[in-house]
Amino acid sequence: MSASARDEDGAVPAPPGLASAPNATAGAAAEARQLLRTLKVFEGALKAFDIQAAPQDPMRLFDDWFRDAVRERNVEPHAMTLASVDAQGCPSVRTLILKDYDASGLYFASSARSRKASELAQRPRVALNFYWRESGRQIRIGGAVLRCSAQQSAADFAARSADARAEAMLGRQSQPLQRWQDWEDAIGVARRQLQDEPDCVAPDWALYLVRPDEIEFWQADRSRRHERLQYLRENDGWVRQMLWP
Ligand SMILES: Cc1cc2nc3c(=O)[nH]c(=O)nc-3n(C[C@H](O)[C@H](O)[C@H](O)COP(=O)(O)O)c2cc1C
Repeated sequence: MSASARDEDGAVPAPPGLASAPNATAGAAAEARQLLRTLKVFEGALKAFDIQAAPQDPMRLFDDWFRDAVRERNVEPHAMTLASVDAQGCPSVRTLILKDYDASGLYFASSARSRKASELAQRPRVALNFYWRESGRQIRIGGAVLRCSAQQSAADFAARSADARAEAMLGRQSQPLQRWQDWEDAIGVARRQLQDEPDCVAPDWALYLVRPDEIEFWQADRSRRHERLQYLRENDGWVRQMLWP
C-alpha cells in the first residue's frame, strides 16, 4: 500500500460507508470489519407466514404476531422504534414501550416536553418498527399521531410504577443535564410530592395514539425468500399486496 493511501497517523482509511472510530488503528478497524462478517442473522426459530390466510384487518394480524412474540419468549417484544421528523425534515428515532393497541391503533406514552413531542406537535406523522429477532419477524407501521385525552394520559400515568411516576414528574426529558446532583434534587422533590399527593399526575405526561395508514408484515426466510405483506388504508378499509423481498 502506498504511503498516500494512509492518513497522517498511518492508519488505513476506512472503506466508504464504514467510518473508522477516532484513534482506531488499521488493525483494529480491520478486526472490527472481520468481526462483523462473522455475525449471523436469522438464526432463530423462524416462523411460517401463510399470506393467503392473513386477515383483512392488519391490527388482527398484529395481535396474532404480538402474541406469538410473547409466547415464543422474544426479548422485550413490546419495545419498538419510533421515528419522527423535525420542522426541517430531519429524522430521529428512539426506542419506546408499546402501552396498548386496539382497532384505532397503537399507543405509547412520553413527556409532552420531550424532543419527540415537540417534533410531533409540528409534524404529526410517525413511523414505528418492531423487530422480533427470535422469530425473524419485522412489522413496519406508518401513520398519523394524536395526543390522547388528559384522562387517558392520567390513567397511563397512574398505572406506572412509583419510580417511573417520579421520573415522569421531572418533566425535563431531552433537556441538557449539567450535573447528576440536579437530577438527585429534582427526583427527591418528585418523590416527596407523590408521597404527599398520591393521586397527582405529571402535567406533561402524555399518551399518544398512532393511527396507522400503512402496516407491513415481514417474515424472514433462511433461503432469502423473505415474505412481505403490505396493508394500505383505503377509504374505510385496507388493500393488501405482497412486496418483493
Ligand atoms: C427499551 C426502552 C424503552 C423505552 N421506553 C420509553 C417509553 O415508553 N417512553 C419514553 O418516553 N421513553 C422511553 N425510552 C427512552 C427513549 O428511547 C428516549 O431516550 C426518550 O423518550 C427521549 O427521546 P426524545 O429525546 O427523542 O424525545 C425507552 C428506552 C428504551 C431503550
